[in-house]
Amino acid sequence: MNNQIIKVGIIGTGFAARFHMEALKRVYSAKINVEGAYSKNPEKLESFSKEYQIKAFDDIDNLFNVCDVVHICTPPVTHEPIVIAALKKNKHVIVEKPFTGYFGDQSENFSGDTFSREVGLEKTLESIKRMLDAEKNSKGLIMYAENWVYAPAIQKEREVIEKTDAQILWIQGQQSHSGSHSKDYGIWKLSGGGSLMGKGVHPLTAAIYLKHVEGISRDGKPIHPKTISARVHAITRMDTYKNEGHLKDTYTDIEDYASLHVVFEDGTIADIIASELVHGGVKNHLEIHANNHRTICNITPNNAMQTYNPVDENFHDIYVVEKTGTKQGWSNISPDEAWFNGYQHEMDAFYNSVANNTPIQSNSSLAADVMATIYTGYLSASKQGIELPITIF
Ligand SMILES: NC(=O)c1ccc[n+]([C@@H]2O[C@H](COP(=O)([O-])OP(=O)(O)OC[C@H]3O[C@@H](n4cnc5c(N)ncnc54)[C@H](O)[C@@H]3O)[C@@H](O)[C@H]2O)c1
Repeated sequence: MNNQIIKVGIIGTGFAARFHMEALKRVYSAKINVEGAYSKNPEKLESFSKEYQIKAFDDIDNLFNVCDVVHICTPPVTHEPIVIAALKKNKHVIVEKPFTGYFGDQSENFSGDTFSREVGLEKTLESIKRMLDAEKNSKGLIMYAENWVYAPAIQKEREVIEKTDAQILWIQGQQSHSGSHSKDYGIWKLSGGGSLMGKGVHPLTAAIYLKHVEGISRDGKPIHPKTISARVHAITRMDTYKNEGHLKDTYTDIEDYASLHVVFEDGTIADIIASELVHGGVKNHLEIHANNHRTICNITPNNAMQTYNPVDENFHDIYVVEKTGTKQGWSNISPDEAWFNGYQHEMDAFYNSVANNTPIQSNSSLAADVMATIYTGYLSASKQGIELPITIF
């Protein structure tokens, strides 16, 4: 192991910053030290810094200056400028999903329902290019924090593909649950899209990643997505929706259902669903149909542990599983949800790459493929699902 201590900075001090800090406690492949944090919100910065006993920086550049690696745990609309600023200072960046996107013209009356999807795609492609160019001109590297890539089930499937020279024929994937609480999530100019962007990004990235792995393993180059046909719907926003209060319904101008059909360069396919319409906790699922095997990755729920609780209140202070509607009756209780989600694995892998120059599994090429696919998907959906070509960088 490289004995150099890698200096770490955290940008943003909300939900994601917290699970990054927890995952950093489980980095074993390198020696790291968190030098401090910066956030736009001084009160949150203060309480976060106190909680983790790290220095609070009131200037982002001062934090960049003392770090080797910066974690970008801020809202999606801020990713591009912060990534580029850090790369200009030759820092490595670990940037949360989604990589970038289209957040409108930031005018008061911008609506996610009515803007031109052509413009959304064009602006997203420009943003991706600026980020990739900044990486090319920097000594720093982009590490795309898509935890699904590092989830143990996905990494085990990588081993199966590499060691058996498997050809993946068809991938089915889904992330769905009963809806996001955050008001910001439902507003396009803050979120950059709905279910397709917020949820579909996870299984889509895992699917594209495994096709990259297959191509690199066999021919030394990734198999990229080639075309997409997509549909999106806003079911809970319909006048005819009969709201019984079990699903979140606070979305302003985003979709709550998306269905994608992706064709890869080699003619094989992936079908991805993302929605806010599913009861009973998060459904995080990826199924791989190959020429020589079939794998089902049950990230959530899985039956690693199951608990029957006759009285909901008995579990009032027990975390069961993400987004479950009730703790009463049988639960697929998760003994370590962060582990199944790959949070600690992704941080350890990133720092292993920084310390020992090992290849980054979730790199900027993967992030670029995913974002180009998503916004080509929005354009396809605006044309009732016609098949459209995806730009590859
Ligand atoms: N991989 C996952 O499972 C997962 C889960 C949740 C969130 N995320 C991603 O993490 C990112 C952050 O989401 P969150 O839920 O933590 O949001 P959050 O609102 O909880 O926290 C965002 C933080 O960023 C700060 N911030 C906002 N603008 C800033 C700026 N310009 N400069 C510096 N700080 C700024 C805010 O003050 C806040 O501290 C998003 O990209 C989100 O998609 C990923």
